[in-house]
Amino acid sequence: MQHQSCISSSVRSYIIDVRTSASSLHQVSLSPLKMSTSAAIYSTIPSASSVLSLELFLCTIVFVSIFAFVLAPGGLAWSLSKPRSKTVIPGPTGFPILGLVFAFTSSLTHRTLAELSKAFNARPLMAFSVGFTRFIISSHPETAKEILSSSAFADRPVKESAYELLFHRAMGFAPYGDYWRNLRRISATHLFSPKRVSGFGVFREKIGLKMVDQVSSSMQHEGIVEVKKILHFASLNNVMMSVFGKSYDDFHVGDGYVLEKLVSEGYELLGIFNWSDHFPVVSWFDFQGVRKRCRDLVSEVNVFVDKIIVEHREKRSENTREEAEVSDGDFVDVLLDLESENKFNDADMIAVLWEMIFRGTDTVAILLEWILARMVLHQDIQSKAQSEIDNVVGHGRAVADSDLPNLPYLQAIVKETLRVHPPGPLLSWARLAIHDTQVGAHMVPAGTTAMVNMWAITHDERVWSEPEMFKPERFMEEDVAIMGSDLRLAPFGGGRRVCPGKVMGLATVELWLAQLLQNFKWVAPTSGSVDLSECLKLSLEMKKPLVCKVEARGRVCLRRWKHAFFPIKVDFTRESPSLLECKGVLVLLHKNF
Ligand code: HEM
Repeated sequence: MQHQSCISSSVRSYIIDVRTSASSLHQVSLSPLKMSTSAAIYSTIPSASSVLSLELFLCTIVFVSIFAFVLAPGGLAWSLSKPRSKTVIPGPTGFPILGLVFAFTSSLTHRTLAELSKAFNARPLMAFSVGFTRFIISSHPETAKEILSSSAFADRPVKESAYELLFHRAMGFAPYGDYWRNLRRISATHLFSPKRVSGFGVFREKIGLKMVDQVSSSMQHEGIVEVKKILHFASLNNVMMSVFGKSYDDFHVGDGYVLEKLVSEGYELLGIFNWSDHFPVVSWFDFQGVRKRCRDLVSEVNVFVDKIIVEHREKRSENTREEAEVSDGDFVDVLLDLESENKFNDADMIAVLWEMIFRGTDTVAILLEWILARMVLHQDIQSKAQSEIDNVVGHGRAVADSDLPNLPYLQAIVKETLRVHPPGPLLSWARLAIHDTQVGAHMVPAGTTAMVNMWAITHDERVWSEPEMFKPERFMEEDVAIMGSDLRLAPFGGGRRVCPGKVMGLATVELWLAQLLQNFKWVAPTSGSVDLSECLKLSLEMKKPLVCKVEARGRVCLRRWKHAFFPIKVDFTRESPSLLECKGVLVLLHKNF
């Protein structure tokens, strides 16, 4: 609570700053006006002084008009916009010229914008400027739906970093049109199809069990568990496997190390507030060095991904045609198949593949870290989820993908965490108005950046009862769809550009959570507790990464028993092994056994 109040007081003081700056500027702009009046009184005094007062008067007029212009509702970028809306969209003026820049350089942008929408009575739609960029933001489910599902907002603004990283050729930033549609279709069929997602379940289970081992070993050797890195590497391997068909044992040496370095640099660059995106003059200088770093990164990424593509090409040329036809390859194979139809060149392919790594890795890892933090804080909820797993799975086997539909309480925990800590509180990637369009009663000009403040909606007491309470039970009482049809909770966005990886992301989070809860009781470290402070980078992360302890739950760990009873190598990646419990001893049956 103390933390909450600390946040809201800092947000409040920000709003006061914004308003005070506006009003003090009004005063500044008025005082020369007074001076000009007095100048007029003394206008009878001839010669030099009358010329001076005329100059002063003209200056005053210019200043007043500039300030009136700059201090229009919504700020500078809205004053410059055409066509003007007949009904003005309410919103803060912000600092002259800068607009709401400082809301975006802070790490709590979602909270600042939520407070401003409330203060300006602009929940459905608020206008503001950041430099020369015009924004609208909705903190209301209905208007949010109108924006997300409108074809007028099916483009995305491409930041300089995204452009330099060639992401305008990848799915997330590609302009709305045939190229983007083609990518969506291909990925829906080959990467995110239900068959493909469920077929990948065995690999997810394997990575989950490896995480269980890593958690045990961290607890054994260090007496605590720092989950962030464990989750991040697991998630990176998971996406790498489905996209590139490759995974890494160690991210501290060799190719694994290079990959991790490239991914973290990319995250940082995409998450940075880049002044060049909003101030054209600044963009000439690249004073933050974003452009240079992006260009350096692109050349390293090209080498890294190119190597993987070459490996795939070689493997394909070695394979017989029949083998190629029956193999259910990774996403690189799918794109290589389409290469012959001249749909993608190498640069496009690298952009598409690389973007998936960025989108798919941290969203999953960050969400799981928040869930585990909540489990440590709410021991009663954790025990309830563990009882559910024990009842459904029993004591003799590891939880599997196929158990998930029978674990509604676990699913409710995931939903509640998505509500309280949405990884993309501003839906991560904004939309862009392709042409002039209407939102409610307001005209929104082409080129306006549109955002949805999902965090504000999921914390609005008029939408959710007791929004600050962590209460998974609310989803047992009411089944709320979270895939984009109900904008009260749409952590994956909605409409044409809804997250295509939502099913895969959710399946991964639910399975790994079930595995981690089946094997361990998660508790607070001896000293200190869980700090729920937030930090918005590319996603909404825990400001202080979770450090906790685990207690083994005395369950049969399938992998260890496997080695004890079966010295024969069983390939767990190929087919699901089946289990038979026989007089208290686990017997593992495999098709090839
Ligand atoms: C918990 C996990 C995830 C969350 C919360 C999440 C959230 C989001 C959100 C909010 C958007 C913007 C949607 C909109 O504009 O309406 C998005 C877009 C996207 N996501 Fe996800 N995502 C997750 C997992 C994934 C995964 C696993 C992948 C792929 C491996 C992925 C790939 C993408 C792509 C490619 C887009 C851009 C789609 C487009 O513009 O057409 N996401 N995601």
